Amino acid sequence: MEQEFQNQVAVITGASKGIGEASARRLAAGGAQVILLDIDDKGAAVADDISLGGGRARFVRTDLTRDDSVRAVFQMIDRDFGGVDLLHSNAGIQRYGTVVETSLALWDEVFDANVKTAYLSCHYAIPLMQNRGGGAIVITSSVQAFAVQARVAAYAASKGALITLAQALAVDHSPEGIRVNSIAPGSVDTPMLRQSAELFAGTSDTNQIIRNWGNGHPLGRVAQPEEIAEVVAFLLSSRASFVTGATYRVDGGLLSQLGGVPLPQ
Ligand SMILES: NC(=O)c1ccc[n+]([C@@H]2O[C@H](COP(=O)([O-])OP(=O)(O)OC[C@H]3O[C@@H](n4cnc5c(N)ncnc54)[C@H](O)[C@@H]3O)[C@@H](O)[C@H]2O)c1
Repeated sequence: MEQEFQNQVAVITGASKGIGEASARRLAAGGAQVILLDIDDKGAAVADDISLGGGRARFVRTDLTRDDSVRAVFQMIDRDFGGVDLLHSNAGIQRYGTVVETSLALWDEVFDANVKTAYLSCHYAIPLMQNRGGGAIVITSSVQAFAVQARVAAYAASKGALITLAQALAVDHSPEGIRVNSIAPGSVDTPMLRQSAELFAGTSDTNQIIRNWGNGHPLGRVAQPEEIAEVVAFLLSSRASFVTGATYRVDGGLLSQLGGVPLPQ
């Protein structure tokens, strides 16, 4: 049986762990040649594991905030794999603070890791998609683009920018057969979420903090990375052939719920 992503080259950024790792595994399981980009060398073991399981994967250690590095990696991809069909732009970092607490250096760090990485990946991937006659992109935003926790000003603003970027890309590149969508996950059990839980945990158990956060979602739990990857795979596939410029909430109902309003008895 022909696999959904057979003969397609998929680039996943931030693929060494969490959502990006799950996305790389899911696209490889669908038959794609996956290229995992991350600044963290753990991606090498993920690529090896995918290959051991019969998938096709290569890891390239890349600082995605650096123009020269991103340009070079896409040149390599063009040379070795003949272009790009699919991009999951997903690398990102989470930092805390109000605008007053946020130094310019921290603001730049967050915007570089979350927005510049997406800009650079799209800047170099899209011409390769144009050469192949089309493609599809998913950008990982967050529920925090729509409704924010306290003290995540830079992160929330960067995630809002990504939704607008995806819309601009969708409008500009539809005529070339390139679809671009974004996803807005709620809480997902990844190293990033566990790091945040540790920050808030103090003396309490991080698993309990994560369970509490899960209880704040109408579905009563946080997501597993594979549940996000499934939506990414759908949006990158031809099953989503008329979907572009959209933002998919993958949030267990979080944004549908009114918070802080006492229910009538
Ligand atoms: N986990 C959640 O609850 C959650 C919710 C909503 C959105 N998101 C978003 O999903 C994406 C993935 O998050 P995750 O939870 O899997 O995080 P994670 O920290 O587990 O993984 C993120 C990966 O991105 C990589 N990365 C960061 N900066 C990089 C850079 N400059 N160059 C190369 N690689 C870089 C990291 O090394 C890491 O491997 C992020 O954009 C995050 O903001 C996460």
